Amino acid sequence: MSGMHLAPPELQPKDFAFTAENLAKAQAIIAKYPAGRQRSATLPLLDLAQRQHDNGLPLAAIRHVAEMLSVPEIRVLEVASFYTMYNLAPVGRHFVQVCTTTPCWLRGSDKIVAACEKHLGIQCGETTPDGQFTVIEVECLGACVNAPMMQVGDDFYEDLNADSTVKILQGLQRGEKPQPGPQNGRQTSAPLGGPTTLLSFNPPANAAGSGE
Ligand code: FES
Repeated sequence: MSGMHLAPPELQPKDFAFTAENLAKAQAIIAKYPAGRQRSATLPLLDLAQRQHDNGLPLAAIRHVAEMLSVPEIRVLEVASFYTMYNLAPVGRHFVQVCTTTPCWLRGSDKIVAACEKHLGIQCGETTPDGQFTVIEVECLGACVNAPMMQVGDDFYEDLNADSTVKILQGLQRGEKPQPGPQNGRQTSAPLGGPTTLLSFNPPANAAGSGE
């Protein structure tokens, strides 16, 4: 469930409309679905609207998507308020989502949350005063094999510890883009230190003709 609440009225723009470029993208997305199933485009259209609006979804954008799909506004709002991928209030430039579900928790996600909070001087659910970082806790992001992990923007940072977490945050603060993926030297989800099986091919001496 989304950890974000609706933005207050003073932060709600009156109107929202897709740019010409995004309108073309939205129409192409809608056209992928059979007639009468256009509401299936709700998720990608909300994502498109959010990317256009500094990673936050105002009510005007939700209304705009609902009108495009000819569905009641509440149908779109209930989707937008359910998934953590949608932000109903503005978030920082770097949106940090730390997974704290069981596999990540068993592998030390508490330390990742603590490292983010201490380094940035905020609590989960808050945004730094300079508007650069928002940190939230989220449920499983599907990268449990590389636990613990966090998502920053569209990128997964995996196999974290407190030190590598702080290094990533420092890199972002310097305006760099730290290399996503495992932070402990693993290649994707391969064993740490390299493969441990199928290292050589030594067929047993009696392998030939074993079927006789
Ligand atoms: S539990 Fe963290 S990615 Fe699945």
